[in-house]
Amino acid sequence: MDIIYNEKRRIFKLDTAHTSYCIGIVDEENFLGHIYYGRKLANDDLAYLMRTEEAPFVPSRNNRDRASFLDSFPMEYTGSGLGDYREGTLSVRTVGGHTGVSLNYVSHKIYEGKPALDGLPAAYGTEGECKTLEILCEDSFLKLQIILLYTVFNDNDAITRSVKVINKGKDAVYLTKVLSASIDMDNEGYEMITLHGSWARERAIQCSPVMKGKQGVSSNRGESGHQVHPFMAWKSRTATQESGDVYGMHFIYSGNFMAQIELTQFDSMRAMMGINPENFCWKLEKNESFQAPEVVCVYSADGIGGMTRTLHDLYRKHLIRGEYRDKKRPILINNWEATYFEFDTEKLLEIARQASKLGIEMLVMDDGWFGHRSDDNTSLGDWIVNEDKIKGGLKYLVDEVNKLGMKFGIWLEPEMISPDSELYRAHPDWAIAIPGRTGSLSRNQYVLDLTRKEVRDHIYDMISAVLRSANIEYVKWDMNRQLSDIGSYGLPEDRQGEIFHRQALAVYELQERLTKDFPHILLENCSGGGARFDPGMLYYSPQIWCSDDTDAVERLAIQEGTAMIYPLSAMGAHVSDCPNHTVGRVTPFETRGYVALAGTFGYELDVTKIPEEDRKMIPEQVAMYHKYNDLVREGDYYRIASYAENHFYDCYEVVSKDKAEALVTYVQVLNRPNYHSRRIRIPGLAPERTYVIANPGDWPEIKQIEYTGETLHYAGINIPPLWGDFRARLIHFVEKKGM
Ligand code: DGJ
Repeated sequence: MDIIYNEKRRIFKLDTAHTSYCIGIVDEENFLGHIYYGRKLANDDLAYLMRTEEAPFVPSRNNRDRASFLDSFPMEYTGSGLGDYREGTLSVRTVGGHTGVSLNYVSHKIYEGKPALDGLPAAYGTEGECKTLEILCEDSFLKLQIILLYTVFNDNDAITRSVKVINKGKDAVYLTKVLSASIDMDNEGYEMITLHGSWARERAIQCSPVMKGKQGVSSNRGESGHQVHPFMAWKSRTATQESGDVYGMHFIYSGNFMAQIELTQFDSMRAMMGINPENFCWKLEKNESFQAPEVVCVYSADGIGGMTRTLHDLYRKHLIRGEYRDKKRPILINNWEATYFEFDTEKLLEIARQASKLGIEMLVMDDGWFGHRSDDNTSLGDWIVNEDKIKGGLKYLVDEVNKLGMKFGIWLEPEMISPDSELYRAHPDWAIAIPGRTGSLSRNQYVLDLTRKEVRDHIYDMISAVLRSANIEYVKWDMNRQLSDIGSYGLPEDRQGEIFHRQALAVYELQERLTKDFPHILLENCSGGGARFDPGMLYYSPQIWCSDDTDAVERLAIQEGTAMIYPLSAMGAHVSDCPNHTVGRVTPFETRGYVALAGTFGYELDVTKIPEEDRKMIPEQVAMYHKYNDLVREGDYYRIASYAENHFYDCYEVVSKDKAEALVTYVQVLNRPNYHSRRIRIPGLAPERTYVIANPGDWPEIKQIEYTGETLHYAGINIPPLWGDFRARLIHFVEKKGM
C-alpha cells in the first residue's frame, strides 16, 4: 500500500496490494483528471493516458472550446453549470441565485493514518495500517474550497473516498448537491449490478447492461430502504464469481442516496455516489464546512467474489466496532413471531425456561413492553415499562431470566412518536411535519424531529434510563416507517432542505452516545426488517436484522444479495416456526437451522409450542452454531450457486483464512424426478493440500475420500439428490494433517 506523487508528471498514484488508482493534474488551470483504476501497475509514467494532446482537452490553449473540454474530460470530481453537461457531483447556489461551480487543484497532503469524519460513520485505520491523500481544490471565483480525501489500507484492496466543502467567501452559499465520489472511465461493455427489493424481500441482485444515458438507484425515503441499496457495481460482460473485472461503490450512509452511471455521447462512463440531491439544500455560512459521507471503492480482477471478500474484510476490520466485532454473539430467542404484542412476564419466562434448557443464551423482548402498547397504534415515545404486562417490573423480569443463565435484550424504536402518546400530547411539534398540513401516517406513527437537540436529549434520557434500570445486554434498535412531510419547527425557512441529512446525523449521534455509554451492550439495528441494512449502521452495530422474512427459501435470495457485500457476521438470521408467517411455506426445521447458520443465528418462535421433534433438534443446532460460528464469522465467503438464478438449488461456502477448513451449505430447494447427482465445485482451498469431509455421518451418501484443494476447486464433488423439497446439507471439509 502506498500513495505517491510524481511531481514532474503531476500524477498521484494510490496503490493497494492488488490495485492502482491514478489521478492527474492537467493544464495551467490545474484541472484534476481521472487516469486509471484497475489492476496494480508498476510506477510507469501514465501521463500519456491523460489525452491532453487531443483536441478539446487543452482548455487554456483553446478557450474557445472550453465547454467541449469540460464536457468530455475524465474529471476526478466535478462541478456543474459551466459546460460539463454530464451530471455533476457538486452544485451550489449563491445568494445571488447563480449556480456555476468548478474545481481546480491547489495543493495536497499525504499522511499516515485516516482522519475520522465529523459526526459520520467511516472506515477507520491507524498510522501504519493506512495512508491518506488530501487534495485541496478551489473554485477561485466563489472562494469555495473542496477537499478530496482518499485512503488506502495495507491489508485491504478497497479505497475510501469522501469530500469536504469549505466556504471561504464573504457570503453564505447553498449547497444543493455534494456527492462523495465519482469515477470517469471509458466504457468497456460493462454491466451494472444493483440491489432491489421490498419489505420482506430485500437486496435481490439485478444485473443489466450499461446503456446510453443515466441509470441507477436512489432513495428519498430518509433511510437506505427496502427498495434499493446504496451500492452499485459494474463488471465486464464475461466477469463471473471467480474471474473478470468488477468495480464496486458502496456508501457508508443511512439516509437518502443516489448511485448512478451515465454513459455519454463519447461512450465514456461517469459513475457517481452520494447524498441524494432531491430535497437537499445545505446553507453554508462563511468559514463553515460540510462533510459528505464516505464511499468505499473496490476493484477486483477476481470477479464478483473478489469484490465480496474485499468488502467483507474491510467491514470486519475497518468499519465494525465494539466488543462484539470479533466475538461469537449469544444465541438469542426473540418473542416477536412467538407472541407479537400478546405477552407478559409469565409468558416470557415460560419461553426463557424452555429456551435455557435447550442451550439458547439470550431472551429478547420485542415490541410491546412500554406505554400502553398492545398493537401498533400507540405509545412510541413513551419509553416507560408497562407493568400491567411486565408484572413485577423490568428488573424482576431480567433478574429471573439471568437466574436461568440467560442474558436479556430489549427492543426500542427511539426515532418514532405515536399520535396516541403522552409525548405527542405534550409536544406535537416534536414530530417531523409541514406546518398546517395533515401529516401522512405510516404504521400509525410519525417520525420524531431529531434535528432538534432537545428532542434527541429527551429520547436519549428516556431510553438510557430503561437500559440502566436492569441488566440489559442487547438492544434491537428498530425503525418502522420512512420519512415524509418534511418540515421541522426547529429550523428556519432556509434550512428546511437540511432535514433529511440532519436526521441521519442525529441517528448517528444517538447511536454513538449509546455505544459509548453502554459499551457492553450488543446493538442490532433493524428497520421493518432490512430497510436500513447499510454500512452506516454497521459502524454502530456489528449486526443488523436482515429481513422480516424468516422463511428459509426466501432467505436464500435475501442472504445472497446481502452477503455479496456484507460479512456473514453482520446478517441477523433466525430460525422461525412453520407455516412461515410471511409466506406460509413449510420447510424442515433442519433446513431452517442451516440457512440461519449463515448469519448471526437465533430463534424467533414460541419454543413452548413448536413440535417436539423440532424442539429436540435445537440442542444439535446450538452445538452446530458453536462448532462453526468462528469459521462463518471470520472466513472467506464464496458463492457457488444461486437459487435466485437457477430456481432449483443454492450453494455457498466459507473457507477459513488459513485454508485448513471450509463449510459448504447446499440447499436443494426443489427436487426433480430421476435427477442424477449435481456437480458442485468447491473453490478457495489450498490447491496442493489434502482435505477430507469431516461430517460424512450427517450424510453417508457423500463418501469419505481424500481430495486435494485443486480437485475440489476444478473437478468438485457430486451431490446426490435429496428426497423432497427444501432439503439442505452442510459439508465440512478439513485438511488432512501430516500429508
Ligand atoms: C419490525 C422488525 O423487523 C420486527 O422484527 C419486529 O421487531 C417489529 N418491527 C416490531 O414492531
